[in-house]
Amino acid sequence: MTIRKAVIPVAGFGTRFLPATRSVPKVLIPVLDRPPLHLAVEEAARAGVEHVVLVVSPDQQSVADYFTPKPAVEDALERRGNHALLGQMRDIARTVDVSCVTQHEQLGLGHAVLMAREAVDDEPFCVLLPDDVIWSDAPTIGSMAEHHDSLGGPVIAVKRVPDEAVPSLGIVDVRDASGPLSRIAGMVEKPRLEDAPSNLAIIGRYVLPPRIFDALENVAPGAGGEIQLTDAIAALLPTEAAHAYEFPGVHFDVGTPLGLLKASVHDALRRPDTAAEFRRWLAETL
Ligand code: G1P
Repeated sequence: MTIRKAVIPVAGFGTRFLPATRSVPKVLIPVLDRPPLHLAVEEAARAGVEHVVLVVSPDQQSVADYFTPKPAVEDALERRGNHALLGQMRDIARTVDVSCVTQHEQLGLGHAVLMAREAVDDEPFCVLLPDDVIWSDAPTIGSMAEHHDSLGGPVIAVKRVPDEAVPSLGIVDVRDASGPLSRIAGMVEKPRLEDAPSNLAIIGRYVLPPRIFDALENVAPGAGGEIQLTDAIAALLPTEAAHAYEFPGVHFDVGTPLGLLKASVHDALRRPDTAAEFRRWLAETL
């Protein structure tokens, strides 16, 4: 795989999760017991990414701390013989390099990605939005990177969504579908339903060429007055063939408390350490 670097934007006020986000960044509020940030980094690492760049806000030291080795905790787990958890702790801290860049102003997703320009430099890279949790056999971002290797140009994860979700997402207009891939003819951020070209929504996984940074420098503020990644990718379309990828697997938007709860329930129902007891309790409760 040619994609070595991943950008994960995590800055943001997390207003939907107040009061918890008064002191805990949203990306660290767990799905069952693993934070969305952990799941995103794990997906990137499983795809072979070597370096993760976190775009954080100035007060998010706890996000950087999450990935530093924890020798005291590791020793305690070792003494108690909890090798499974120990393995998980070590893996996330040691399989990828994690660095942080600071976004001082919240000017939109496109602006957050632009903050990683120097760290990414002149090579294709991927972006994972931790609010979008995707569980599938193969890491979604890895499959997308493979498609990028053969097709070139941006590859963007998409999913069909109901009408009511359209105005809060990026929407693509596609042509020439072949299996899960189709060519993107246009894309628009948070359209009104009557203006949307389809119900195919962008889900937070992107493989992008480094030229996106020039597009991000030049794009005008779009939906919500923010610098939108969607608009910058759209600006590349006349010169770069971009593809939409309808990924297999289960997706949850954990950017709302209810979405986070649904993802936790899904996880608890399938995990061997929780499934039986949780299923019993759920059946009794219902
Ligand atoms: C962002 C993107 C949007 C995409 C969405 C997926 O929106 O701008 O195109 O559909 O993530 O989660 P946000 O959730 O930041 O409003």
